[in-house]
Amino acid sequence: MKTMASNQVENYPDIERIIQFDFVRATEGAALTVYRWLGRGDKEKADAAASDAIRGMFDLMDIRGEVVIGEGLKDQAPGIFKGEKLGKWTPQAPLYDIAVDPIDGTTNVSKGTGSSLSVIAAASPEPGVECALLDIPCFYVMKLAYGPQVKNYIRSLGVDCLKLTSPVDELLPIIARGLRKRLTDLVVCVLDRPRHERLIAEIRSMGCALRLIGDGDVTAAMLPSLPGGSIDVYIGIGGAPEAVLAAAAIKCLGGEIQIRLWPKDERERQYLVEQGWGDRLDQIFYTDDLAKGGNIIFCATAITDCPGIPGVRFTDKYAITTSLLMRAKNRTIRKIETYHNLNYKTIRLRSEKGEKFVSMPKSEAFL
Ligand code: FBP
Repeated sequence: MKTMASNQVENYPDIERIIQFDFVRATEGAALTVYRWLGRGDKEKADAAASDAIRGMFDLMDIRGEVVIGEGLKDQAPGIFKGEKLGKWTPQAPLYDIAVDPIDGTTNVSKGTGSSLSVIAAASPEPGVECALLDIPCFYVMKLAYGPQVKNYIRSLGVDCLKLTSPVDELLPIIARGLRKRLTDLVVCVLDRPRHERLIAEIRSMGCALRLIGDGDVTAAMLPSLPGGSIDVYIGIGGAPEAVLAAAAIKCLGGEIQIRLWPKDERERQYLVEQGWGDRLDQIFYTDDLAKGGNIIFCATAITDCPGIPGVRFTDKYAITTSLLMRAKNRTIRKIETYHNLNYKTIRLRSEKGEKFVSMPKSEAFL
């Protein structure tokens, strides 16, 4: 006689088809939990709340997840850390490498401004792959992200003509040609930071449309690959974990991200050498180097409005969240709008070891 478990395996050989929706529940829970910290100037409490909801949801999931890329290295935030085990860890449960940023754009949340989301990438490593999501022990990396049309154009040229290390006045015309756009119509996105002063001046001098963002470059890096995304190319120096999260999304979308390590100073450079990265300091890593294999899941829920993904909002009865859920295997892009009934909605929190009504505007628990 077959056990229930073996029946399930027969019915669902592709277990990710089911599991993926629990990842969304985790980022939805984080976005909803964080809402009450919006604009309150407390990044740490917001981060802690998001992490609590993500851990709580994973406690219900029958997987063996290990965090291979967590938050914290960049700003010592109270995030979910590398090496943490997530899921129930029952012996036969599927293994996942997990990259997580409970909030990308914590400053935006603390100021109550747009462009923040809760994001998870998960990958079950294929045989022979030690870790499917590359953990880069560097604070920052240089990034160049573009969509499938540009990627295919470059491939059709049959040469290695687009390299992140090339001058920007060589890169952008190639990207514009790939998109069949005039250079002046090309929309380039850059993090608004003093370190990008020269880059910004160069892009402006070329006449391109420039979008400067304050924070949240996971979204910015994946936008050129999203159908209908509002930018054509993302370029500049940003967080290393965010690059790998973006790579997981871009992999599901068929675009490309190139990165190179960007040690802040000699001390960090030395640290990288000690960590065995000395021979990779000048290497360009591509999407497939960062998110290896085909078993990649990406999901994100907007906390505050991101381009094309509205943040958490309320009616008299519902909290509404919008999430993106994608898999590299089938490249389906799901944009999930969820209506959480405020009078019934509970969120699983690790700290409570159970479900909790979360105080939200207009919920009975709040009134
Ligand atoms: P956090 O929300 O984790 O603080 O990251 C926000 C962010 O804007 C990332 O999206 C980006 O990669 C990084 O910070 C840029 O770092 P910095 O703010 O130090 O320039």
